[in-house]
Amino acid sequence: ASAPVTITVTGAAGQIGYALLFRIASGAMLGPDVPVKLNLLEIPQAAQAAEGTVLELMDCAFPLVTGLEVFDDPFKAFDGANIAMLVGSRPRGPGMERADLLSANGGIFSVQGKALNAGAADDLKVVVVGNPANTNALIAASHAKDIPASRFTALTRLDHDRALAQLSAKTGTPVSEIKRLTIWGNHSATQYPDISHATVAGRPAIELVDQQWLADEYIPRVAKRGAEIISVRGGSSAASAANAALEHMRSWVQGTSDGDWTSMAVPSDGSYGVPEGLVSSFPVTTANGDYSIVPNLEISEFSRARIDASVAELESERSAVAELGLL
Ligand code: NAI
Repeated sequence: ASAPVTITVTGAAGQIGYALLFRIASGAMLGPDVPVKLNLLEIPQAAQAAEGTVLELMDCAFPLVTGLEVFDDPFKAFDGANIAMLVGSRPRGPGMERADLLSANGGIFSVQGKALNAGAADDLKVVVVGNPANTNALIAASHAKDIPASRFTALTRLDHDRALAQLSAKTGTPVSEIKRLTIWGNHSATQYPDISHATVAGRPAIELVDQQWLADEYIPRVAKRGAEIISVRGGSSAASAANAALEHMRSWVQGTSDGDWTSMAVPSDGSYGVPEGLVSSFPVTTANGDYSIVPNLEISEFSRARIDASVAELESERSAVAELGLL
């Protein structure tokens, strides 16, 4: 068997953490042959609840689990981490201004960036789930001076999967027959789910749906799905977010399939006019543990305006955290 992979999950006692840990432990993320050592990071007030999750994880007697530990010190929790899933963050409380939210999260993600820098493994891969995910990833990367920024990514796979599901429902085609769909920009209501390069059972998706449905129903439905889940379920997406985080990492480690791609928010290399360094969602292919942004796609005027709007929001988040001294 291969050596155990050390996976640190933050926010381990939260609802996404609870939906995520058992599936990682079962082998759903890295496969049935890869042993895993799970480090759970929580704040001190929630560490006991995380200990309860550890008791349950023990009770599953998962054959792949070689270690289970709860930490409230990020420097210990990230020591030796091959994979870091940064789920915990500070939710917006009553009366909290945007600057307060950014600065509370800036505190969390700058410390976690430093802790990763101090002790994580050389092959570290990071996905940030906690919101504002893109900008939190930017902050963490900027405090991890010795780790290539490219290892810091943020989750837009949930948006990608929501976009697949909506297109599948509209066209009556199984999800497995839809390829090359893209989420661009920020994990927020400005994101742009783009079907202009997508195929549905081998046919161009844009030939199967009309432009009005796209602009008035599809794009807003996908972008505001998080709010829809809250209003129907009475709580924010948890199992679907956990699944997406797991799929994000699984794709990164195991590779995308030929002729298809996925969406990941990654530090821009300047592609598609996205300013360098912004953590923005792109179409990416993955192979051998690396990802690359899909090059040379044609961007229509319709797409351009939407990508630019979401990127402008990311730029304003970046200036706000820079002004707070968080980068
Ligand atoms: P939750 O409130 O149930 O759990 C968050 C946990 O994080 C809590 O147990 C809290 O104690 C912990 N935490 C807070 N600060 C921490 C720190 N410094 N270190 C370690 N743990 C810390 O929230 P839930 O539902 O699990 O969501 C987690 C985050 O994921 C939220 O920010 C949410 O907005 C975000 N999210 C992102 C999605 C995406 O697609 N990118 C989708 C859904 C949620």
